[in-house]
Amino acid sequence: MKRKWLALSLTLALASTSSLLYADTNADIDAGETKAASCVSCHGEKGNSMVSTFPKLAQQDESYLQKQLHAFKDGSRKNPMMASIAQSLSDKDIADIAAYYMAQKVSANDLPVANDDDDDKPAQTEAEKKAAMDKIMADGSNLYRNGDIANEVSACIACHGPLGEGNEPAAFPALRSQHADYLIKTLTDFKMGNRSNSDENMMHMITKKMSVEEIKAVSYRISMMK
Ligand code: HEC
Ligand code: HEC
Repeated sequence: MKRKWLALSLTLALASTSSLLYADTNADIDAGETKAASCVSCHGEKGNSMVSTFPKLAQQDESYLQKQLHAFKDGSRKNPMMASIAQSLSDKDIADIAAYYMAQKVSANDLPVANDDDDDKPAQTEAEKKAAMDKIMADGSNLYRNGDIANEVSACIACHGPLGEGNEPAAFPALRSQHADYLIKTLTDFKMGNRSNSDENMMHMITKKMSVEEIKAVSYRISMMK
């Protein structure tokens, strides 16, 4: 009960309008589990998808999940697979499903395997591959924590938290242990303007300054955050 009140006062202090709009104190986790049965084929058992281009939903912020489902429903976030699914959900369904997924635990990922299929380059030894991956991870970590000042890329940590845990009252999504392939895809969508359902379009402003290498490095790093 105490936690609820704390959460509520934080919500009132920090909430963006979106999370206030969709706040639903009567969300029912058990009902959400039943209603999420049709999501399992793509998003996996308890929201831990096994397909790297389908996002994990487990342990994601409730406010963010609600915001995205409403966005798929009203067409402001475009995805052919999610559009018709979201249209079949009521506001109550969305609230219950979001509460259910937030209550699950996100699964850890294996270390990404860098694409080494460039025929023009000589094959790398295991030691070279490891050194290359260590460098990508270090670059990704640096970008996450410090941003890229020269290119005006904001530090991700400011909004998504030191451990990628997100910020529920502000509807900043959790990122930790998300699939690297999905992260690369969605960051590229923000960059190209294909995903633009957030009012201030913060992620477009940030990603448009990011290079392909930076997107890959930060995605790999985030996929290993727990
Ligand atoms: C046929 C496969 C499929 C099914 C079934 C499906 N989804 Fe999705 N879902 C996707 C894909 C693919 C994406 C990523 C869309 C993109 O790239 O923008 C997605 C994205 C999402 C997101 C956004 C996640 C994020 O991190 O931004 C939410 C929330 C979501 N789905 C909820 C659901 C719910 C709830 C159900 C069941 C009622 C469901 N999905 C069923 C394929 C599916
Ligand atoms: C000023 C705050 C802010 C900063 C800084 C920020 N983000 Fe975000 N990020 C957001 C918000 C808000 C959203 C949700 C956008 C929406 O609702 O569509 C988001 C969404 C995302 C998503 C989509 C998550 C999903 O599940 O689909 C990814 C990935 C992401 N950010 C990565 C990053 C990375 C990487 C950086 C640093 C280079 C970063 N963000 C910096 C606020 C921020």
